[in-house]
Amino acid sequence: MSTRIFLWGKFLLGFVLVAIGLTGCGGRSASFSVEHPADKQTVVKIQGQANYLLLPVEEATAEAKIYMEIDGGKTLPVDVRLARNKVDYYVPYDLKGESNAVVYVDRVENDALCWNHLLLSDTFDVANVEKYRPAYHFSPAYGWMNDPNGMVYLDGEYHLFYQYNPYGSMWGNMHWGHAVSRDLVSWQHLPVAIAPDSLGTIFSGSAVVDKENVSGFGKNAIVAFFTSAGQRQSQSIAYSTDNGRTFIKYDQNPVVTADIPDFRDPKVFYYEPSRKWVMVVASGQEVRFFTSSNLREWDFSGSFGQGYGSHAGVWECPDLIELPVSDWPGDKKWVLLLNINPGCIFGGSATQYFTGEFDGKTFTCDSKPETVKWMDWGKDHYATVTFSNTGERKIAMAWMSNWQYANQVPTRQFRSANSIPRDLSLYTQEGEIYLSSVPVPEMESLRGEKILCPGVTDQQGDYCINQLFENNQGAYEIVLTINRKTADVFGFRLSNGAGEQVDFCYNLPEKRFTMDRTKSGLTDFSGDFPVVTYAPIEPQERYTLHLFVDKSSIECFDSDGKLAMTNLVFPDEPYNSLTFYAQNGSYDVESVVVYPLKKSM
Ligand code: FRU
Repeated sequence: MSTRIFLWGKFLLGFVLVAIGLTGCGGRSASFSVEHPADKQTVVKIQGQANYLLLPVEEATAEAKIYMEIDGGKTLPVDVRLARNKVDYYVPYDLKGESNAVVYVDRVENDALCWNHLLLSDTFDVANVEKYRPAYHFSPAYGWMNDPNGMVYLDGEYHLFYQYNPYGSMWGNMHWGHAVSRDLVSWQHLPVAIAPDSLGTIFSGSAVVDKENVSGFGKNAIVAFFTSAGQRQSQSIAYSTDNGRTFIKYDQNPVVTADIPDFRDPKVFYYEPSRKWVMVVASGQEVRFFTSSNLREWDFSGSFGQGYGSHAGVWECPDLIELPVSDWPGDKKWVLLLNINPGCIFGGSATQYFTGEFDGKTFTCDSKPETVKWMDWGKDHYATVTFSNTGERKIAMAWMSNWQYANQVPTRQFRSANSIPRDLSLYTQEGEIYLSSVPVPEMESLRGEKILCPGVTDQQGDYCINQLFENNQGAYEIVLTINRKTADVFGFRLSNGAGEQVDFCYNLPEKRFTMDRTKSGLTDFSGDFPVVTYAPIEPQERYTLHLFVDKSSIECFDSDGKLAMTNLVFPDEPYNSLTFYAQNGSYDVESVVVYPLKKSM
């Protein structure tokens, strides 16, 4: 740990615990005492100055409220699972530059273990060390992450904000975390962008660039829209005039309210034909549309959803984009992305979408009401939204987890990563319009040396590539092509020396492609995790598949993005063998190309 930890000792004096802290290398010195006055909150009194009080967290325990008193006022309380019986990890509580800071803690027993494990420090270690931490997918430096929020492109930078808990690796205390990238693949962490306030915690939303300064917040201001999640859910604004480095909350928040419990995740975009801004908000079992000329005042203009698509869960995180239809030159359609939880055909969370028309006020769907379209056929692809201000190009990112087990996945210092960014387009099949998603070409910049594995022809039984490459750290890309000869159930397995495997199978009689993670490694942290996910396929003679493997996730794409499947896996060691098989008949392995992928964060 690079952290400069203060040395400390303690003496129990009735209800007063005294701890002494000293700096390690000639810096400031600080110490603290812990007092448990009868029937009141515990008080941690710091003498001197330090940047952080490091809080010991135990995940399997209840949350405690923690706040400070500054200038006679209380800071907003945060919820922390303070350790009662064991310490899982630490989180930093920022002492906001105060000297002699006083921290109050509600609801923790006087004999809890945490009182013996508090630390003062000027630094907090965020080295990227965990076994399952992705090498090239975005993940938070520490703490919990869910949905991507406010993704926007400005002045050569892609901004990624995200649902963030800086006080533990489980959901809670929602803030907007922030990172930027110039190439969509290497991300730089920035300080938290938007923190909770008296209206509530900061739920999901979007951001736009106000090029004409219609809001009055400033030319080219980034204007962020989010849900204030308090007693009710309502939509609020914060803006930045310094490239997203700092945000100011609008003093008239909230700007859109409704009398329904689930009213959230505003997505804002500009609709050129009416020269109006449009906000789409997930509202119970429908989405509602609002329009505005100045980004601050919004009028209800329509709703969509009742009776359409899947209603097996709560509608969340909508996005509305216009895309060209690849096989109808010159034609465009509108796509309403709509995340639903639960409702995934494999259980839990998934992204459905609708295709149709938008007239500036409301959306009409072209499909029959009972039609349900899924964007990704895995179990770990949720809260998908697109970047704004990227012109015709529409780039989507999703949260790579599922609410069924997101809080239980076997990581510690951080939880969750995003999908790789994907370029979206539309195609038609039997009169219906579908969304295709392909990895952004920028991903190629992460490729290490190209490895060509030998293929095989007219193979009847297994064909095994024992080692994909030396020193495999679990971050790589595979592009493979299989020709079926006489086989109609065939596929391949990725496996490791611990006997763990993920099976990918083309079943032509059933017209299905499946991915089986039931023996992929750690699966018992949730009964909902071990599954076989499947996608519909058309029987073909030849299949090309593109796989992105990154420590604890696998994303598969077919050659034109019609099939995307994203699943988490937690193997004991990286999968480094590839075994092709057919259950009947013969097949060719036409090509197998492997690229180790570089760390990008
Ligand atoms: C989706 C979601 C959103 C909400 C956010 C809260 O995963 O439930 O609807 O704004 O997460 O963190």
